[in-house]
Amino acid sequence: MTDAIELLKIRRSVKPREMSGPGPSPAELETILTIGARVPDHGKLTPWRFIVFEGDARARAGEVIAQVFARKNPSASPAEADVEKRRLMDAPLVIAVVSFTKPHPKVPPWEQELSAGASAMNIVTAATALGYGACWLTGWFAFDRDVLDGLGLKADEKLAGFIHIGTIHIGTPSKAIEDRPRPDLTDIVTRF
Ligand SMILES: Cc1cc2nc3c(=O)[nH]c(=O)nc-3n(C[C@H](O)[C@H](O)[C@H](O)COP(=O)(O)O)c2cc1C
Repeated sequence: MTDAIELLKIRRSVKPREMSGPGPSPAELETILTIGARVPDHGKLTPWRFIVFEGDARARAGEVIAQVFARKNPSASPAEADVEKRRLMDAPLVIAVVSFTKPHPKVPPWEQELSAGASAMNIVTAATALGYGACWLTGWFAFDRDVLDGLGLKADEKLAGFIHIGTIHIGTPSKAIEDRPRPDLTDIVTRF
């Protein structure tokens, strides 16, 4: 248990450009997805699902993103289009967390969406615990209906984010402890 606390105390995101292969093995991926599905879920509604992008699938997703981008930004430069093509190309594994809510008498959509967020965070934590870098990102293409259609989401599904996962390739011990400032508990905690 101490290990879990130590991990959670120092966990931080790793940028996709600081990651490369190898990604998680098939068994590790199954572990990550299983932990992603083990989250609080009021009413057992399973209001989330996961899409795995590995290998060539990352480039195919990039083509979808770039095509929508080109259609909506006809004056964009080839360099800008290339950025869009490469959106999922840095980390060897990207897991999209898809959120969808169902009408329920006791479980409002807000709770169901929070559960999808919990799934995304569990995926980040599981990948980190396995020794990989992980980062939860969105971007314009995570909200664009045409991109989401192209990635196979149904009309009533939303994207909670893309979790990029890979081996950390930049990082010395000093870099590893570099961190963003964290909120001071005195600013965010009150007692009632
Ligand atoms: C829903 C969601 C979407 C996010 N999208 C982005 C993003 O598109 N770009 C970005 O730089 N950080 C994004 N972040 C923030 C990163 O995931 C991460 O929190 C940040 O880089 C700091 O990392 P750490 O606090 O996990 O160390 C997002 C976070 C959440 C919860």
